[in-house]
Amino acid sequence: MKFKSLKKAKVAQKSVLVRVDFNVPINQGQVVDDFRIKKTLPLIKYLKRQKVKRIILVSHLGQPKGKKQKQFSLKPIAIYLEQLLKEKIYFFPEKIGSSVLEKKLDGLCQGEICLLENIRYYPEEENNDDKFAQKLANLADIYINEAFSVSHRKSASLVAITKYLPAYPGFLFEEEIKNLNRFLKSKKRPKVIILGGAKAKDKLPLIKNFLSSADYFLVGGVMANTILKARNFEIGKSIYEKEVISEAKSINPQKGKLILPDDFKVLSRGKVESRKLEEIKPADIIFDIGQNSADFYEKIILQAKTIFWNGPMGKIEEPEFSLGTEKIKKAILKNKKDLTVIGGGDTISIFQGRLPKRNNLFFSTGGGATLAYLSGQNLAGVVALMAK
Ligand code: 3PG
Repeated sequence: MKFKSLKKAKVAQKSVLVRVDFNVPINQGQVVDDFRIKKTLPLIKYLKRQKVKRIILVSHLGQPKGKKQKQFSLKPIAIYLEQLLKEKIYFFPEKIGSSVLEKKLDGLCQGEICLLENIRYYPEEENNDDKFAQKLANLADIYINEAFSVSHRKSASLVAITKYLPAYPGFLFEEEIKNLNRFLKSKKRPKVIILGGAKAKDKLPLIKNFLSSADYFLVGGVMANTILKARNFEIGKSIYEKEVISEAKSINPQKGKLILPDDFKVLSRGKVESRKLEEIKPADIIFDIGQNSADFYEKIILQAKTIFWNGPMGKIEEPEFSLGTEKIKKAILKNKKDLTVIGGGDTISIFQGRLPKRNNLFFSTGGGATLAYLSGQNLAGVVALMAK
């Protein structure tokens, strides 16, 4: 997979448009998790050192579906970025294609940075609209995709724009691809894939892609409930994903590869109880894997040489249901073998901002994008850059 190299590009005195993914949790105007924002800083700093004319940051936040809605404004992110970089970040909510925006951009001094308003306020973004992409491209001389984590979406600021500007991958984008490729190609066994949380629709294809090359799939969370339901086990009132039941039924790896929890922590008529799988009652709600399953998962993780993890094992917002996930986390950190890749917002949040820096331990900024890439899919935003 070959991309053009940004390091070889002449960017000095050029106006650079950088597509970032600042889709981060915000609560009452405050950034709750800045992992993705911080990961874009090396590129921004590099561009400044290269003396670019200006940096125009473009991002989405949430899914405003083509409509301007205040709760999806990127303004809090501009304020936050300003604190991180300790320099003025201009927030320009003016319409893309308007002369007001052009004037504001022209008014920026050498090397200054601005952030435009949520790109998904424009319906053209998610329609990958050519004319809109052209308008966006008119704002700059060079385009950089530093948003691997949204590159599974065929959107104007990720795909169509690459037709109108010299297009390069950013440093984080390349780092993501490099580590995910390492995981895909690694022959170091046992190879263990841990899948929890929900969105089984995005995770079942990953299982399919690794059926012959992974040794164990350790499953928890809503993902496990869904597979158990597909196999006709009683899961009481637990949440599961009805729409993927038939797909879940069709997954039949070699015996012993796909490991489901055999005990749980449940909420039963308002009380927290431990239950074996065969003891689950119609009124129970599964909220975590049980001690026995957690111990077994730990044993497998400690022996693994290559690990991928996406999704918690239970309802981690509540301490009594976070034990399974905590055990997995500790085992993963203890295992310092060949390669561990951890991805997905919920999974990263388990580390509460304390992400150990270590060779062979990679925290991916991608949730859906990482799952799609590891499932063997071609990501529209990745393909668009390769063609350049
Ligand atoms: C993500 O959070 O996975 C990316 O920002 C993509 O967001 P989306 O699922 O709303 O396209």
